[in-house]
Amino acid sequence: MAALRPLTVSSPSQGLSGRLTVPGDKSISHRALMLAALAKGVTRIYGLLEGEDVICTAKAVEALGARVERGADFWEVEGVGIGCLKEPENVLDMGNSGTAARLLSGVLATHPINSIMTGDASLRSRPMGRVSDPLSQTGAQFVTRSGKRLPMAIIGTGEGLAPHYVLPVASAQVKSALLLAGLNCQGETCVEEPVPTRDHTENMLGHFGLKLEVTPAPDGGRVIRFQGPAQLQARDIIVPGDPSSAAFPVVAALLVPGSEVIIENVGLNLLRTGLFTTLKEMGASLEVRNETIEGGEKVGDLYVKASSLRGVTVPAERAPSMIDEYPVLSVACAMAEGTSRLQGLAELRVKESDRMASTVALLKENGVDVTVEGDDMIIQGRPTLIGGGEVKTHMDHRLAMSGIILGLAAQQPVHIDDTAFIETSFPGFIELMNRLGAGLKP
Ligand code: S3P
Repeated sequence: MAALRPLTVSSPSQGLSGRLTVPGDKSISHRALMLAALAKGVTRIYGLLEGEDVICTAKAVEALGARVERGADFWEVEGVGIGCLKEPENVLDMGNSGTAARLLSGVLATHPINSIMTGDASLRSRPMGRVSDPLSQTGAQFVTRSGKRLPMAIIGTGEGLAPHYVLPVASAQVKSALLLAGLNCQGETCVEEPVPTRDHTENMLGHFGLKLEVTPAPDGGRVIRFQGPAQLQARDIIVPGDPSSAAFPVVAALLVPGSEVIIENVGLNLLRTGLFTTLKEMGASLEVRNETIEGGEKVGDLYVKASSLRGVTVPAERAPSMIDEYPVLSVACAMAEGTSRLQGLAELRVKESDRMASTVALLKENGVDVTVEGDDMIIQGRPTLIGGGEVKTHMDHRLAMSGIILGLAAQQPVHIDDTAFIETSFPGFIELMNRLGAGLKP
């Protein structure tokens, strides 16, 4: 096990300032590696996130027969074609990444090979039944530990039966697993989601030449259909900056008095920007400039200035567009005037940690009045944050970064038990915050 990296965070004497970029989008990076491995030909991926989660995916697709090489400012992947992945010689280790494990399960389900997948203690505690159950429709078989958890053996089918599935929860990972499985199935794959979730898989499949049909579902969701078996053609990919990573310097700049920060080239796919919408409703000085489309995804620069915030109600329907941003939003709510009510957060309980519990503990430890009613979190905000707490991160990168942001805004130093997991999604986070003047001393 890697050594713990504790950190004590105090508020800086001056505001944060500067211009920065954040690493590539994690969701898009995983998908880029997997689709490139399934495509025919050579794909170059520019701006790939080189975090531990994505490196696990790179190693996994290499173990499955794709050629993966790091070039000067790109990663090159030579794909084998759908249906042609080879059986891996060893267990596939997906590290801390639910996205890697769940999406790759979809790919492996409809390849005629056997594989075994595992991950770290956090990933081994997370539910895999949400993918293994529906993927069984294809003819694949799954053997899991109790509670349908990793390690998991996958007995893949060759060309499978095309899945037809209505998602019981809003999950881009489950949707994507089924779409990826459908690529090597006969007939029509049809996946319906109750609420639109991030559509990077659909966008990238289209980019690689698949003809998909996406139509609105009667209750506000979406239906995605395509005919298999499919073929994908290699195409270069540009990965935008991750809005879920940008969230941390954005909230830091809002909360540390006197701050003024510009974050360039951030992905602004509308199914990812719920946090930015919410912060604006709270009165944040947050502006998007220089919007363009790059590699099929909307990108732009974020201009942020320290702001006095007011409490907000975030409706449950918005949750999928900001599902990873609640821990850091909760820190902003703690310093906003009045009550905030974050609704419909059931999915937070099955993230890298139980983020409902770990976020509540983060706030309580630092003197914030927070309660849970059913699946809602209610935070009583105050313009001054006491701090002084011991933050337990439970192998959760977003908890660690949220704890750091809280410490930067608090009156008393905040102790974080372990910052090592930040490497999964945001390598260089502490150095980048220090370039803005955060004064973190690892
Ligand atoms: C992701 C989807 C979300 C999100 C995760 C990345 C993806 O998970 O929390 O960090 O890349 O598809 P769910 O699909 O489980 O909501």
